[in-house]
Amino acid sequence: MTNKFQFPKNFIWGAATASYQIEGAWQEDGKGESIWDRFSHTPGKILNGDTGDTANDHYHRYGEDVALMKEIGLQAYRFSISWPRILPLGRGQVNQAGLDFYSRLVDELLGAGITPFVTLYHWDLPQALQDEGGWPQRSTAEAFVEYTEAITAHLGDRVKNWMTHNEPAVAAILGHLEGNHAPGVKNVVQTVRAAHHLLLSHGWAMPVICRNSPGAEAGIVLNVNHSIPASPSKVDRDACRLGDGMWVRWFLDPLHGRQYPADAAAYYQQEAGKDVMDVVQPGDFEAIAAPMDFVGLNYYLRQIVRAEVPEEENLPVTVETQGERTEMDWEIYPEGLYYTLSRLRYEYQIPKLYVTENGASYSTGPDADGRVRDVKRTQYLRDHFAAAQRAIEAGVPLAGYFVWSLMDNFEWGYGYSQRFGIIWNDYETQQRILKDSALWYQGVIKNNGF
Ligand code: FCB
Repeated sequence: MTNKFQFPKNFIWGAATASYQIEGAWQEDGKGESIWDRFSHTPGKILNGDTGDTANDHYHRYGEDVALMKEIGLQAYRFSISWPRILPLGRGQVNQAGLDFYSRLVDELLGAGITPFVTLYHWDLPQALQDEGGWPQRSTAEAFVEYTEAITAHLGDRVKNWMTHNEPAVAAILGHLEGNHAPGVKNVVQTVRAAHHLLLSHGWAMPVICRNSPGAEAGIVLNVNHSIPASPSKVDRDACRLGDGMWVRWFLDPLHGRQYPADAAAYYQQEAGKDVMDVVQPGDFEAIAAPMDFVGLNYYLRQIVRAEVPEEENLPVTVETQGERTEMDWEIYPEGLYYTLSRLRYEYQIPKLYVTENGASYSTGPDADGRVRDVKRTQYLRDHFAAAQRAIEAGVPLAGYFVWSLMDNFEWGYGYSQRFGIIWNDYETQQRILKDSALWYQGVIKNNGF
C-alpha cells in the first residue's frame, strides 16, 4: 500500500505530556510544593476548583501507561520532570526518591523501545523559589542550573534528547502579565524579568546538559501560532506585529543572537513607565544564544488580531472570519503549521525541528459499547500531519511529531474540563481507553504515513 502522505525514513512519531498535568502524588516521597500546587489550591483560580493532586495518578501507574504507549506503537515519548520532586526547595538537598521515579520511568520506556524526550521545565517551579521572588529573580536561573546538573547527571546516560523549557512565553506572559497561570502575577516589569531569566537559564543549562549527557541533543520548546491582522488597517497590522514581538520574536530573536526586538521592548518600556531592560547584564545575550541542536514547535491555532480601539476608529470594519474551532475555542488552521515551520526554518535557519505539541480538545467520551469515536480529533491530526508533510517537501528539516496529548489530563486553568488525549481517562476509576484517534495514529506510525 502506498501512502498519500509519506514521511521520511527515521521520522519519529510520539506523544507528549507534562508532569503537573498527569502525575498526581503531589506530596509523596518527599516532593516539594510547586507553584501549580499553590495556584490550584487557591480558590477561584482553576475552573471547577480542580487541582493536579491526583490527576492521572501517573506517578503510580506509569507502567500501565508505558504499556499503552507501546500498544499504540509510539517511538518516542515527551514528558517533563517535576523540579520540586528532585529539589524540594528548588536548590540544595536532592530528593533521591524523585530521581528514582524518573529513573524507573526511563528504564520502562527504553525497555519498551520508546525513546524518552525530556523537558526540564514545564511550569512547575518549586514554591520555595517563588517565595524568594521566582523567575523575576536572577537567582532562580542559577537554581535552574543546579537542578539541570542534578537531573542530567542522573539520567544523562540513558536520555539523549533534552528540552530546557516548555513555552517560556506562556510562563512569562500568562504567569506574570495576565496572571491566569501560576504564579498569578500581573506586572509588566516582572514579566520582562521573568522572560529574561527563563531564557538565561536555558542558555546556562545547555552546556551542562552536553557535559552530563554525551552525544545528546538539546534545545527548547516554543509556542508559535499563526497570526494575521483582522483587517488591513494600520492599527490591526500594528497590533498583530506587536503580539508577534511579545510572544514570538522576544524568544526566537535572542536565542538566535539577535537580542530583544525593538518594537516589543519599546512597548514594555512604555507600559512600565521606566527602564525594564536593565535586567540584561553583560554576557547574557551570548549565553542565551548558546548553540542548539533543535527547536521544538508547539502549534495549535490561528489568531486573527483586531486592535483594541473603538471600532469606528478601525477601518475597514470587515474582518477576517474564523474557521471551525475546537472546544478550547481555538481556530483550526492546519495551513498555519506549514507557514510556521517554514518561518522557523527560513527566518532563523534552525537546523532541526520537531513538532513537540499539536492536538485538539474534544470531550467525546465512550459510547455504550465503550468505544471513543473522536472523529474530529482524528480529522484535526490528519490535516496537521498533511501540513507538516508539505513543509518537509518544502525543505523544512522536521525530524518528528509529538501529539498533544498521550492522554486526557489537567488542562491548567481549565482543569479537567478540556480533553486533549488520544487516550480517554476516567478520573473516577483511572481507567484508560484508547480513543479511535489513537487507533488511527497506530496505523500512521506503522505505515510512516497515511
Ligand atoms: C500548551 C501546553 C500544554 C498543553 C497544551 C494544550 O500550551 O504546553 O501543557 O496545556 O497547551
